[in-house]
Amino acid sequence: MQFEVWSKALPDPSVECIAAGVFEDGKLGAEAAALDKATGGFLKGVIARGDFSGRAGETLLLTEAGLKSTRVVLVGLGAERGYGRKAWRRACAAALTTAGRTRIRSVALAIERPAAKDLDDYYFGRCVAEITGQVLYRTNDLKTGKKPPLPAIGLVVAGPVRATGVAQAKRGLDHGKALASATALQRDLGNLPSNVCTPSYLADCARGLAKRQASVKVKVLDEAAIRREKMGCFLAVTQGSAQPPRFIVLDYQGPRAPRSAPIVLVGKGITFDTGGISLKEPGGMDEMKYDMMGAASVIAAISFLAETRLPVRVVGLVATCENMPDGMAIKPGDIVTSASGQTVEILNTDAEGRLILCDALHYARRFDPSIVVDMATLTGACVIALGAHHSGVMGNDDALVAELVAAGVRADDRAWQLPLTEEYGEQLKTNFADMANVGGREGGAITAAAFLSKFTQGMKWAHMDIAGSAYQGGALKGATGRPMPLLTDFLVQRAGGG
Ligand code: BES
Ligand code: MN
Ligand code: ZN
Repeated sequence: MQFEVWSKALPDPSVECIAAGVFEDGKLGAEAAALDKATGGFLKGVIARGDFSGRAGETLLLTEAGLKSTRVVLVGLGAERGYGRKAWRRACAAALTTAGRTRIRSVALAIERPAAKDLDDYYFGRCVAEITGQVLYRTNDLKTGKKPPLPAIGLVVAGPVRATGVAQAKRGLDHGKALASATALQRDLGNLPSNVCTPSYLADCARGLAKRQASVKVKVLDEAAIRREKMGCFLAVTQGSAQPPRFIVLDYQGPRAPRSAPIVLVGKGITFDTGGISLKEPGGMDEMKYDMMGAASVIAAISFLAETRLPVRVVGLVATCENMPDGMAIKPGDIVTSASGQTVEILNTDAEGRLILCDALHYARRFDPSIVVDMATLTGACVIALGAHHSGVMGNDDALVAELVAAGVRADDRAWQLPLTEEYGEQLKTNFADMANVGGREGGAITAAAFLSKFTQGMKWAHMDIAGSAYQGGALKGATGRPMPLLTDFLVQRAGGG
């Protein structure tokens, strides 16, 4: 996919299609008005006839608008009052979707831009590439019938961008392009079934990334190596599975970045979560193939960094295994020793994410990290608390949590802080070990984080619960690509900004 920006007048007519916006009162956006002139009032005629209303998300493909070989896609912008980034995003997506159903190979976006304070040139470029990636993404299904033809779009020309903003917009496009390919990778890994996307598959994927990118090194620990690290909690989760576990260490070294005090990202990589002996109910259990979206996000973040060459050092840690019931599986009441030396009574084998994460978080210490951020589809309680609209964020450093929340606002991939205060930790008390792995139903997203906090003392740490945001069920079942927009925005800011 190729991206360009256009600046002054409408782009040259070699583009096969121009997308232009119309407000719902029939008023043309500034770019559409210029286009209308070029077509001798053709667009106004279409609206006057009542063929197009300008409702948000509505599109109309005009194959003969009086512009030689160039088609026009009219796209509805909704109400002019309050028009902003959200409506613009929706209009861009709708226009590209419509063009993508045809054989159109190149599209110029000439859709009314929101005010600069709402969407500056950097984010304009970044969003154009991000949205294009979202629209053109196709899941890797295994349907054997004839597939619908793929969209032919290979060039998107975005504008208008003033001459002074071209460099910023191009940087945004570069970052957006890397975000789009990282997101496609993350979604692919999520959408693959668990009989394909195993722990070894994730390890191979990480190795492949390191092979292609000189800035990325990878190390994979097998079960024996995991045992040498004394990761008793991680091993407890994997012991009921026939698939061998993997602990993946990705190391991205950016140009001119110090090697010391890296950012460490940690991902939960349960490639299938049956619940173990505390077996889940069958309804919707297939969705537990998405229980590795944290891991996929970490791998994809490293791929984003390698593509953008951001000047930072980031270490990605992925603990990955299955959670299965079996004669060898852990049982409620079993007590195991974590890599940190703390003992854990496993009261519910379905609370396995925190068990693999606590050993990964402990492993992070050896890097003397500046910050640690873990990502996990950790609790159903987080889905109940926040739904799909916000990821949950907690941590032991409010400034770091605020940084993540702010990145989510800028990237339109929002997160909300839950209160990780001391009291929640008390729910994990037990007579038989240093802590239990569950703390009852109440505040379940927070008690899970409270458990993790016992392994991150002395490090600046934040935890993102992406159980509600990383994938959706129902007719649109699939990975959403979240939290890649938030995470990559956060990394760009950490590397010195867009
Ligand atoms: N992977 C699940 C969390 C989850 C649930 C993600 C629903 C997405 C949708 C996790 O391993 C889990 O089972 N958590 C339990 C914890 C409980 C036993 C304390 C849960 O949320 O029910
Ligand atoms: Mn579980
Ligand atoms: Zn799980």
